[in-house]
Amino acid sequence: MLQVRDMTVKLPRDGNMAAVVNEVSFEVGRGEFVGLVGESGSGKSMTARSLIRLLPRGAEQRGSLELDGTDVLALSRTGLRDLRATRTAMIFQDPRAHVDPLWRVHDHISEPLRQQGISRREARQRAIQLLTDVGIADPERCADSYPDQLSGGMLQRVMIAGALAVEPELLIADEPTTALDVTTQVEIMSILMELKRDRDLATLFITHDLELASVVCDRILVMYAGKIVESGAAADVFARQFHPYTHGLLRARPPLSGPRSKLEAIPGTPVSGLDAPPGCPFAPRCSWVKPECERASIELRPAAPGRESACVRIEEIADELD
Ligand SMILES: Nc1ncnc2c1ncn2[C@@H]1O[C@H](COP(=O)(O)OP(=O)(O)OP(=O)(O)O)[C@@H](O)[C@H]1O
Ligand SMILES: [Mg+2]
Repeated sequence: MLQVRDMTVKLPRDGNMAAVVNEVSFEVGRGEFVGLVGESGSGKSMTARSLIRLLPRGAEQRGSLELDGTDVLALSRTGLRDLRATRTAMIFQDPRAHVDPLWRVHDHISEPLRQQGISRREARQRAIQLLTDVGIADPERCADSYPDQLSGGMLQRVMIAGALAVEPELLIADEPTTALDVTTQVEIMSILMELKRDRDLATLFITHDLELASVVCDRILVMYAGKIVESGAAADVFARQFHPYTHGLLRARPPLSGPRSKLEAIPGTPVSGLDAPPGCPFAPRCSWVKPECERASIELRPAAPGRESACVRIEEIADELD
């Protein structure tokens, strides 16, 4: 459904252009739930935005980007508007920042339908049905509410209902549960998973939580400093890591169940693509670093069946990571 090849996003910095997303390639299939995971600043949101060319002013985007055969980078202004309005949908960490407080819930959901020429009455009916689909118990009352009358979890459900109104081919969910309490997080996640199942939706799910991603996603892409450093089936990545960064992310987090082992934070601080050193961007924080890691840029390559890693030493250190 979605095919991204060698995508680079550069932003102006100190009179030059610097990459925040650096030659990223991946795919999301129909009905596939793909997790994009990494620490703050790694370029997850920028990658997400680049898929619908919603980038900051002055940004430069290169590479190739296809959505079900459409060359997204070649789209005209109208084509792009159409892509954003009807073929893709995005939900965000903070739903309140993305709603108009003066609009009632049903307006938010039915507006895109009205733009497609659907009558007011039918649009409202569709809105009520969508609110029911995302588990809202009293959809009529919710439809007539204003955003500030709803809890964060309810509002995120409304955003998801709004995203689905246009029946998108691709859903981009940028940390949709990060601002919510744990119980609501679980509810929102199960709604997203149901959608994937029932609607055959291609979903790119962004999170900084690798363990959550390993439970909910089909496949995981691990991002560091603007690059994908590891990828594979979610359960496989969780069971065995082929990049020291992924390994570090999992060791730095308490397990959801089972015995608690000692937590080991990754030393140093994460860098964004803007500040990435040459060679492997993770080298300054890596316990396995060797001079060769800092020499040239390191590409993602097969590490095992269905698995890729951007670590040059992976064959040597795989057993230590295991
Ligand atoms: N509008 C902008 N102008 C300039 N730089 C930006 C802009 N937005 C993001 N950046 C920079 O781009 C880099 C990647 O940011 P991005 O928002 O994609 O990270 P992220 O992985 O989504 O992080 P987080 O987990 O905090 O959301 C960061 O260094 C950030 O400071
Ligand atoms: Mg982000």
